Order: sequence, then structure tokens, then C-alpha cells
Amino acid sequence: MVKIAPSILSADFAALGTDIARVEAGGADQLHVDVMDGRFVPNITIGPVVVGAIRKRTRLPLDVHLMIVEPERYIPEFIAAGADMVTVHAEACPHLPRTLAQIRELGAKAGVALNPSTPPSALEFVLDDLDLVLVMSVNPGFGGQSFIPTAHRKIREIRKLLGARPVDVSVDGGVKVDLAKSLAEDGATTLVAGSAVFSAADPAAAVRALRSAATAS
Ligand code: DX5
Ligand code: ZN
Repeated sequence: MVKIAPSILSADFAALGTDIARVEAGGADQLHVDVMDGRFVPNITIGPVVVGAIRKRTRLPLDVHLMIVEPERYIPEFIAAGADMVTVHAEACPHLPRTLAQIRELGAKAGVALNPSTPPSALEFVLDDLDLVLVMSVNPGFGGQSFIPTAHRKIREIRKLLGARPVDVSVDGGVKVDLAKSLAEDGATTLVAGSAVFSAADPAAAVRALRSAATAS
């Protein structure tokens, strides 16, 4: 039930194709692609050109997490490059419903990410405009940070807010095997994991370990 989305932020950018093949072999459900602009977050990563290159190397759905200001300027390019899901930050979107409609109209799934200090109520008036919620369990910008425990309560509150809507709830930041089960119990349906997967000696085994921990009874 729970999907595993390795974040390529912790992969080897000079050997991305090889690293992607490793997590595919481990049964990853989708790839999480972190886009940072040096303005919304204090780090710079990749743009649509790299998303297009990844698209050619894998059939896995690409879950593109935009940590950028004015995301509406770049959404068309990311979707044209092959993004299946595009997630924008509520904090970066003064016209959130319009931005979510833009993503859906271009044929992708629309996601909203919330920083650790942004309350679930930020979603209250866009509940029918989104396909996924990304709960940040670190302050975005870097891989390898520690999980902030308040994310547990936030996931549960968001689940309640969503009611019966078929919306995916992802958790991103500091996700390790020992947290997988409790996050699934909180109501997370996708676990994003960067360093837990790509810093492991065997990324395929790390994906399998996350999945079995998340689904253990
Ligand atoms: C953080 C990114 C995350 C990051 C997670 O800003 O959004 O997707 O790659 O990395 P880990 O799992 O190492 O915290
Ligand atoms: Zn991310």
C-alpha cells in the first residue's frame, strides 16, 4: 500500500542513470526530484533539462518537488520535460488554487508541500484542487537532515482534513526505516527517502527495507 519514492538529491549526479536503475531494481514506486532555486531555499539543484534526461532513463513516475519562488513560471517546462506530479510550496504561491489548476490543466497531478511551520489549515480551501500533499519533515534545502517529530501530528491532522478524498499524503525529510511504520500508521501513503536510500551500500535493499517496515503489522 505505502509507496516508496527515493529522492535523487542524495544520488550520484554524475551517475544518475546507474543510481536510478538501482532503486528501480529495489521496486521503487516513483522517483522524487528536488528542484531548488537558491531563493526559496538556500541551495540550487537541477532544472527541466535534467528532468528530461531522467525521463528518458526510466518509466517510473516522476514526482517533481519545486522548492522555487514563482513556480508558475516553470511548471509548463517541467511537465513538458516529463514530470507526472508537480508539487509546489504553499508558502511560495500567493494564488495557490490558480497554480494547482495550471498543473492539472497541463495533465500532471498537482501537489502542495507544507514547510514544518506551516499549519494543515493552509490546505483548507484547496482540498478539492489537489492530488497530493507533501508534508515536509525537515526545513527544505538539503538532504540528510533529522526528522522533525511534529510531522506525525501534522500527517494525522491532514488525513482528517482530507476525509474520504483519494489524496496521497507524502512525507519528506529524514525518513528512515525505523520511522516507516509509524508514518504509515499516521496516514502517510508515500515515503520520500534520500539519504536512507542512496547513502546505503545497497540502494535496492534500502528501498525493500523501507517498504517492508512500512507494511509490517
Ligand atoms: C529536502 C528535500 C528532500 C530530501 C530528503 O529539502 O525535499 O526530498 O532529498 O532527503 P533525506 O531523506 O536525506 O532527508
Ligand atoms: Zn523533496
